[in-house]
Parts: sequence; structure tokens; C-alpha cells
Amino acid sequence: MEAAAISARAVVKSFGVGDARTLALKGADFRAVEGELHLIVGPSGCGKTTLLSVLAGTLECDQGEVSVLGTRITALSNAEVTRFRRGHIGFIFQQFNLIPTLSLLENVSVPLLLQGAGRREAEAKAAERLAQVGLSGRERQRPSQLSGGQQQRVAIARALVHEPRLVICDEPTSALDSVTGHQIMDLLSGAARAPGRCVLIVTHDPRIYGYADRISEMEDGRVTAVHSGESLSSFIHAATRS
Ligand SMILES: Nc1ncnc2c1ncn2[C@@H]1O[C@H](COP(=O)(O)OP(=O)(O)OP(=O)(O)O)[C@@H](O)[C@H]1O
Ligand SMILES: [Mg+2]
Repeated sequence: MEAAAISARAVVKSFGVGDARTLALKGADFRAVEGELHLIVGPSGCGKTTLLSVLAGTLECDQGEVSVLGTRITALSNAEVTRFRRGHIGFIFQQFNLIPTLSLLENVSVPLLLQGAGRREAEAKAAERLAQVGLSGRERQRPSQLSGGQQQRVAIARALVHEPRLVICDEPTSALDSVTGHQIMDLLSGAARAPGRCVLIVTHDPRIYGYADRISEMEDGRVTAVHSGESLSSFIHAATRS
């Protein structure tokens, strides 16, 4: 069997208390394989962002077990999870989460600085990544000077700059035009297809289904189907025909 990059079992997560309680994950099982680009799809509100946050260790689940790259993160302390995440995970948030007071170069340097890199080395690598996403010449600008699609590309550069083994993205192409969307997906595919690596993407965008090695479908707080091989081809065919 292929090596698991992520394995999550019976994950439960609720928000709020009493009448306002929402059960966002209702015993979700999930598995992603090393060397693959894996998509998660499903209707709005079904728990996709919540699942990604639990897998990335930015949100603690109420019940269940989560292993990422061979480490059982549900058994770690908060400080240990933070250290693990900084070392191994790049995260592209649905809302980009750029730091408004920092330049683009500084924003993209952050993951390297957190790992202890020197400023000059970090900024050189950050500049390279900004060039890869088509933003050369804008290094000194602030996020507020950019369009939504450009901000999204900065977030992608930041997620890839420290070459993490796992890249997790919430809707990475939502604000991008078709050409830029395909450039970004080529970058993300490259980041996925190496031993010990994996890219996990939540998307509503059928234009990128063709990049997937595997697609998990979610509904109402659970993973309800997983497609790879022939079942993936028929899933993509059905989704892109309509
Ligand atoms: N911080 C929060 N506080 C309260 N409820 C939340 C919170 N985050 C998510 N929820 C609820 O949990 C459920 C799942 O939300 P989630 O954001 O995971 O959905 P999603 O599949 O990512 O949706 P979308 O496609 O619209 O981004 C929703 O009912 C949502 O209202
Ligand atoms: Mg979401």
C-alpha cells in the first residue's frame, strides 16, 4: 500500500455551545498518499475548511486521531504542534492571511525566519518565489496595493518558500483567472510529486480537477467518497460535462 502522508480517523469538531452548537465534523475519516495532489470537494458549509485546519494542526478537534507525515499530531502539545507545522507544513488560507504592515517580500520571508534563517537568505528565496508566481518588481509593495488574485499568489509563494513536505490550500485558485490558475496548479503539482511530499487542496473549481491524483468528496461533516484511477476519470468526466 502507498505511504500515507495524512491519516485521520473519526474526527469530530463542534463550534459553540448549547443551541448555537454546530457539529462541523461528524466522525470524518481521511487519508492522503505521499507524492500525490489530493483534492477535497463538497458543498459550502460541509466542513472542508474545518477539516483542513484540524489536519494542519491550527484547530484542535474534540475527538479522533490525526497523523501527519508519520507524526501523531493529536498526541502533541500545542507548542509541539506549532513547531511541527513550522517545519513541515505550508498553509494557504481561504482569506490569504497576509500581514498588512509587511511588504510582500517580508510576508513571503516569514516561514523561513520562523525556522531561524537569516534575513538576507530568507529575502533572496522569497524574491525567487515571488518571481515564480509572476510578482517580480512588487517586492516592496504592501498587500493592500494588490488585487485579490495577486494577494492569493503572494499567499501561495509564502506557503511554498520553505519547501514544506505538506502543502495545504483552501481554494488556491478562487481569485485567479484561468491562465494564472493553471500556472499556480503547475507549481503545486511540482510541489506534490516527490517522495515524502503531498499537496492537499480544497476547491470548488472543476477546471483544476484534472490535476488531481485523488479526490475526496465531503458532505455534512464526513468524507463520503474517494476517487482515484478509473473512478477518478469518471468523476471528473461527470463533473466537467455539466
Ligand atoms: N469558527 C466557527 N464558529 C462557529 N461555527 C463555525 C466556525 N467555523 C465553521 N463553522 C461552522 O461549521 C460548519 C463547517 O464550516 P466550514 O468552514 O468548515 O465549511 P466549508 O466546507 O469550508 O464551507 P465553504 O465551502 O463555504 O468554505 C459550517 O456550518 C460553519 O458555519
Ligand atoms: Mg471553507
